Amino acid sequence: CAMRFQAANFGVTLLFVGCIVATMQLIGRKPIRLTDASDSLNNRHELTECCDVESSVLTKQNVKVGDVLPNVLNRKMPLKISRDVYRVLPKESPFRNKHFQTCAVVGNSGILRGSRCGASIDGAEAVFRCNLPPLGKQIYRKDAGVKSTFTTAPLSMLKSYMQMKDKSVREKFIKDVEPYRGILSLKKPNNYTNYMISSVESTMGNSLEAVYEHPNHFLCIDNYWSNHGLPRKITSGIYIISMALTVCDEVNVYGFWPFPRDDKGHKVHYHYYKAPVFVMDTHDMPSEFLLIRQMHQDGVIKVHMHCL
Ligand code: CTP
Repeated sequence: CAMRFQAANFGVTLLFVGCIVATMQLIGRKPIRLTDASDSLNNRHELTECCDVESSVLTKQNVKVGDVLPNVLNRKMPLKISRDVYRVLPKESPFRNKHFQTCAVVGNSGILRGSRCGASIDGAEAVFRCNLPPLGKQIYRKDAGVKSTFTTAPLSMLKSYMQMKDKSVREKFIKDVEPYRGILSLKKPNNYTNYMISSVESTMGNSLEAVYEHPNHFLCIDNYWSNHGLPRKITSGIYIISMALTVCDEVNVYGFWPFPRDDKGHKVHYHYYKAPVFVMDTHDMPSEFLLIRQMHQDGVIKVHMHCL
């Protein structure tokens, strides 16, 4: 009964999103080409073929000293694999031979507030998160859970906290990220990342394996979605959904809602937690949401708005 209610609820939500999209198109925004159903059903297979998850992190097997890789943030400043960077890379990918039956992929939208999805998220065999939301805060657990298996983290954010002079801010940050476990993938590595891995592991504890995201893997997934009609650079959210599709039999998605109001017209915060919001104009989240909706309708993923 709860599942039927949830399906009905998401149906109303989809209608609402349909209206938003129609409005966007009416006010002159360029219409996007929606992925058709057959494309959507192939997403899992095609992503597994094109963007092997084992190559999603830098390892001693997939790079060598002297290699030059693209810098996702700034193509004019490619990433050179120095001896120092190479030394801290794992021998092999932490994704080697990994496969999960059920996964939860958690976006950071304020739509999670009051959703009561925490238990459902933590009940998954593996939980994918992005951008290091504060897991240490009890108030978010009921809605967002606390489990983490794979998390992306912006290097710039980690670096600024690690080097923070103000001890109390640094301690607060460490408390917020203390519950993280599993793989922490440092996003968009650049030439100034030496020693970040050991510094993160010693600060955040040894139940965490810090790795560098492989820029080619991100660009490969970005390219895949660009060929499927996404006009701008993909978000971390679509990136982790794509990764989950290649290693999980069942992908449950929470916390994706890039709109300021919910289906009942109530205000939705940008994040479910308190944090300064810097929305960069580099993504097209409404278009990504349409892809997410399409995948949900085709049964490729399950999107959850509320968990009763
Ligand atoms: N998201 C969403 N609706 C929001 C906020 C976020 O659907 N209101 C999804 C997006 O896919 C986003 C992900 O949740 O990538 C993580 O959110 P956030 O940390 O805010 O990502 P951004 O910093 O906005 O974007 P990115 O890291 O992708 O550059």
